[in-house]
Amino acid sequence: MRYTIDRMTMADIPRVIEIEKLAYPTPWPPSAYRKELQENRHAHYILARDTRVSGASVPQPADHPEPQSRRPFPLSLLPVRPLPTPGPDAASIVGFAGLWLMIDEAHVTTIAVHPDYRGRGLGELMLCSLVGISYEIGARHVTLEVRVSNAIAQNLYRKYGFSIAGSRRRYYSDNHEDAYIMTTHDIYTDDYRQRYAELRANLYTRLSTTENASPSAGQPSARSDI
Ligand SMILES: CC(C)(COP(=O)(O)OP(=O)(O)OC[C@H]1O[C@@H](n2cnc3c(N)ncnc32)[C@H](O)[C@@H]1OP(=O)(O)O)[C@@H](O)C(=O)NCCC(=O)NCCS
Repeated sequence: MRYTIDRMTMADIPRVIEIEKLAYPTPWPPSAYRKELQENRHAHYILARDTRVSGASVPQPADHPEPQSRRPFPLSLLPVRPLPTPGPDAASIVGFAGLWLMIDEAHVTTIAVHPDYRGRGLGELMLCSLVGISYEIGARHVTLEVRVSNAIAQNLYRKYGFSIAGSRRRYYSDNHEDAYIMTTHDIYTDDYRQRYAELRANLYTRLSTTENASPSAGQPSARSDI
């Protein structure tokens, strides 16, 4: 398959930050990702890669403006340090996502696809992978916050069985927009397992048979469990 899922490492942070700035009006600083990867044993971060792209970095398109403020991060006052050197395949990173395990709940902290790669099933590939990780780590529910105006992301989450469970007033610091809290029911129910299996099968068929397919397309190559 053209697109694969990997675990995020420190060498991936510079490229992740490039995409973060393109995806969010208030991006996390690099130190937040560094801390997540090095110190948070409840955190799980993944990447989507385009295996047709290689090289250490790609120029940031001029028409994607740099945001000025930061997305709130729960761990504040993180030290500022230089970014790690990008890995040799940094340019192949086209999206990233992560979650925290909080008791029996998987809390999605971020999910973003490079603007040039949206609408191809990659956000879904990463959400599907996060649900797969949620099963692996024993979470019973998957939950997240999403801007009330972010209909695209809400559609993606609804597809995977999330529904609105509440809201947080003025949650986002840039414009004081409210957040919806969206959550799945118990992912171990037969209904959810079946829904997840069908969605996953359809997604892999889509990613393997559209223009995304490579001659050897078949099962996902990087993680057999997604
Ligand atoms: C949200 C985001 C990750 C979706 O990624 P994507 O790769 O474009 O989405 P996909 O192509 O995998 O689409 C998956 C589903 O999302 C929804 N969706 C995607 N694009 C959509 C659009 N333009 N309009 C409406 N719904 C859309 C659909 O439900 C779609 O399922 P379908 O293909 O069966 O219709 C991406 O838009 C993004 O990075 N946004 C900026 C960051 C962000 O808002 N993250 C969410 C924070 S809570």
